[in-house]
Amino acid sequence: MQNIDWGSLPFGYYPTNYNVRCYYRNGEWGELEYCSETTINIHMAATCLHYGQEAFEGLKAHRGVDGKVRIFRLDENAKRLQSSCDGICMPRFPMEKFEEAMIKCVQLNKDFIPTYESGASLYLRPLIIGTGARVGVKPADEYLFIVFATPVGPYFKGGFQANPYVITRKYDRSAPLGTGIYKVGGNYAASLRAHVEACHGGQYACEFYLDAKEKKYIDEAGAANFFAVKDNTYITPQSTSILPSITNKSLMQIAETLGMKVERRPVAEEELSTFEEAGACGTAAVISPISRIDDPETGKSYQFGDGTPGPWSRKLYKKLRGIQTGLEKDEFGWNTIVEI
Ligand code: PLP
Ligand code: COI
Repeated sequence: MQNIDWGSLPFGYYPTNYNVRCYYRNGEWGELEYCSETTINIHMAATCLHYGQEAFEGLKAHRGVDGKVRIFRLDENAKRLQSSCDGICMPRFPMEKFEEAMIKCVQLNKDFIPTYESGASLYLRPLIIGTGARVGVKPADEYLFIVFATPVGPYFKGGFQANPYVITRKYDRSAPLGTGIYKVGGNYAASLRAHVEACHGGQYACEFYLDAKEKKYIDEAGAANFFAVKDNTYITPQSTSILPSITNKSLMQIAETLGMKVERRPVAEEELSTFEEAGACGTAAVISPISRIDDPETGKSYQFGDGTPGPWSRKLYKKLRGIQTGLEKDEFGWNTIVEI
């Protein structure tokens, strides 16, 4: 095991030993390859460089209280990557190969799996890029799949600590019939300016998007879905322009087992003033409670609770983290245990 101060890790790139690669050539995916090289050599006319033919995923391996290593819901990430591939005309990466690649990547980098006590985890970042050379706008004929691992700490300041967010009306991340439902690099390129402006000055954790068409409904934060709590009900937006978050899907199930009602429906901005608790959720964010959402262009500001994580957010967090780390029974069968 590496001698790293696991508890102080930020959410960033930390070099590890190996990555796993796979090439798509002549109409099929090849065998998995294990590699310690961190760079790639691609054609300057590759479609990923010009036309954004790129999709990625994010998932985590956790060292449990019992010492076992668990990857959370990797089948869901495999399915979503396939959906992203469909969305931008790339060949689907097979489910079994995805699973094998994730497990292998964790095993090869076992020395970088943070301790249970640190609360940090090993983040897996699979991606697929179009590598075939094209100048006209059309899909490539060759692709490269890579997954690398990096140990990470909390994405938002303080981890499970409430942070303020800011609504961006000036920029849209994705259109109602656009690519927002896919995890493709282009969506993140479209969000960078809003993100940089929102975080400038250090006041806000992240930008927050309304629906692009009417600017009336809540969509999501830059790198996480939104949820709120009111009258023992877990409320989360239904929208055609947000990423279907695996964390959010899991929290909806957990909420039901905790006795909450669950509503997935359009959420108008004005409803924010009625919520008792609010949070951002995602693989990187886990649950990141929201203290306040400001809408500077209308002068409105929505406050949730007393600025500390609310009671339902605490319960949801405890149960989710408990399942991921083996403290709670994995009643839904979400974990894949990796033999180390
Ligand atoms: N929304 C966006 C835009 C994201 O980038 C992410 C991160 O993956 C999420 C939501 C959360 O999704 P998940 O819970 O599957 O990580
Ligand atoms: C994740 O939560 O896995 C993400 O991909 C969010 C962000 C770092 C892009």
